[in-house]
Amino acid sequence: MTNKLKYFIGNWKMFGDFKDFKIVNKINQFSYSPRYRSKKKKIILCVPNVLLDNFNKKIGYNHISLGAQNCHHYHGSGPFTGSVNASMLKSSGAEYIILGHSENRSEGESYSIIKKKIISSLDKKFIVIFCIGESLADKRAKKTYSVLREQINGSLDKKFDVNKIIIAYEPVWSIGTNKIPKTHELIKTVKFIKKEYKKIFKTKIDPKVLYGGSVNNKNIGLFSQIDELDGFLIGSASQSSKKFIDIVKNYYK
Ligand code: 13P
Repeated sequence: MTNKLKYFIGNWKMFGDFKDFKIVNKINQFSYSPRYRSKKKKIILCVPNVLLDNFNKKIGYNHISLGAQNCHHYHGSGPFTGSVNASMLKSSGAEYIILGHSENRSEGESYSIIKKKIISSLDKKFIVIFCIGESLADKRAKKTYSVLREQINGSLDKKFDVNKIIIAYEPVWSIGTNKIPKTHELIKTVKFIKKEYKKIFKTKIDPKVLYGGSVNNKNIGLFSQIDELDGFLIGSASQSSKKFIDIVKNYYK
């Protein structure tokens, strides 16, 4: 078993309520339980904006971190009805932020908008979880690599701090479908992403690359054998403390 730091990041999406603090609490306690506290892991829960401040205040001594799931691209305040900026999210207790999720790209979020969101979030000292991934049509047309390259080049900049960006590779066809990539394909894709990223940043440091899409407590055993992966972005299974904890437990089995 590897000794590298591994990320287990929950993306609650538009689910959850104040009473679901019990999920956060259980995961927080688990993270520091005698058997798992020594594991080199980072657990982050990205919850809906309205829950951030409440959860942050209630959690007390935290062994996990909170994250947001998106922000407006404008760095300051302004006439943007219904929007929140990175600064507001930071003051609500979020330390991480998911940007470029395919569910937002599909609503029309462009590369340049995502780039502005990244700039604004980095400025507010967030760690950015930058999502990329090909659609089923892209995959069928064998365009996976060119799409990933375009997504990376379209929104990342060599001026960005490499250490403040985590890439989450989430093939759109694997989100919520119970379909996962073949192990050898996933390894190849993760290697490609790392290579492409290093080229852009002109760095020799390997970026962190996570996998997301239908991760559960059964298939995590397969993923745990892929040393190139730095962790996981977990959707529906993160809305249950048991399912999420079982993923972490099974990862370290
Ligand atoms: P699922 O784990 O529900 O497939 O969602 C993945 C995801 O979109 C995480 O950001």
